Amino acid sequence: MSILVTGGAGYIGSHTVIELQNAGEEVVVVDNLVNSSRESLRRVEKITGKPVKFYEADINDAAKLEEIFDREAVESVIHFAGLKAVGESVEKPLEYYMNNISGSLVLFNTMRKYNVKNIIFSSSATVYGNPSFVPITEECPKGKITNPYGKTKEMLEEILIDIQKADSEWNVILLRYFNPIGAHESGTMGENPRGIPNNLMPYITQVAVGKLKKLGVFGDDYDTPDGTCIRDYIHVVDLAAGHVKAVSKLRKKPGISVYNLGTGTGSSVLDVIKSFEAATGVKIPYEVKPRRAGDVPVCYCDAGKAARELGWKAQYDLKKMCEDSWRWQKNNPEGYVD
Ligand code: NAD
Ligand code: UD1
Repeated sequence: MSILVTGGAGYIGSHTVIELQNAGEEVVVVDNLVNSSRESLRRVEKITGKPVKFYEADINDAAKLEEIFDREAVESVIHFAGLKAVGESVEKPLEYYMNNISGSLVLFNTMRKYNVKNIIFSSSATVYGNPSFVPITEECPKGKITNPYGKTKEMLEEILIDIQKADSEWNVILLRYFNPIGAHESGTMGENPRGIPNNLMPYITQVAVGKLKKLGVFGDDYDTPDGTCIRDYIHVVDLAAGHVKAVSKLRKKPGISVYNLGTGTGSSVLDVIKSFEAATGVKIPYEVKPRRAGDVPVCYCDAGKAARELGWKAQYDLKKMCEDSWRWQKNNPEGYVD
């Protein structure tokens, strides 16, 4: 039996495929490569020494999905596929709802048709909005979400909860990721953003490699110790390992479960810059810019539930995240080249 990984050629998906294969799982990847490259899976194969079964397909394509489910003995699905750029989602809400919501509905419907009722879904800390308390536990009420991308995460959580409520044969694990950064230790795999990065770490590494001149720090007048926003950065390999634990949990038929995947440690933007400089010896020029719309001041989790129930805990610290991000960027200044 296989684990079908949608979006498995992407940043988190490809690192998860490595951990799954290393754990002895059979993996089938479905990805339309809208935000990724076939090369990432070739690099997975080099690392694990195992072939990756890959279907280039859009999850909106029901006929194609049925073909895949006909051919493969799928036990469960890890659903990463989706568009994820916050700013772009404000400009193109319909594209985001069609891709993320409609695509997921087609996937869930196909799963039901083939009686595959086990799913792990990539959700986000964004569902907490501006959190009503920190560290954020899974009981923290969901907050106001200001962009269509974040809304698709919140809606898909609710849709999966409803599906499981109506049919208790479904097992659903919602994983709320905090801020994934870092890269595979080999330096051959990492995040490969198209265009100018929106997120902090890829921006820093592109400044470090000379592709961008200077980092803008979005606001230094927040009510935090150094005035910059605080986030819970987590190494992508730790995050990937969390999915292997979630697969084990899914086999125990949990019904519905929700877990935060983060380290439980908050770091400010200036902490990340300092850590990067210390870990790599590369200076990051920056200037303070106005606050970015939609940013919350402080967001970090209590990761205790995942530790207790999944037996999972993040291993890597910010220094390691910086070292690995840098190794990837330095060795692959243009990212993956097909
Ligand atoms: P990514 O863009 O690298 O990976 C997503 C993959 O899905 C890409 O390979 C893309 O080609 C594929 N895809 C998109 N639409 C598709 C479709 N219709 N059919 C088939 N494939 C499709 O992003 P990532 O950072 O690896 O994120 C993976 C998941 O985790 C996403 O759902 C994202 O929203 C979620 N998430 C990411 C973060 C983060 O900071 N990276 C944080 C929280 C949640
Ligand atoms: C952002 C998204 C969130 C999404 C997550 C992962 C917003 C408002 N939130 O989270 O919905 O789930 O990415 O894709 O976009 N920063 C700078 N300069 C930069 C880039 C970032 O100072 O050039 C700061 C930001 O203000 C923030 C921190 O760095 O305080 C982290 O930013 P980022 O990496 O974009 O992650 P989030 O904003 O936490």
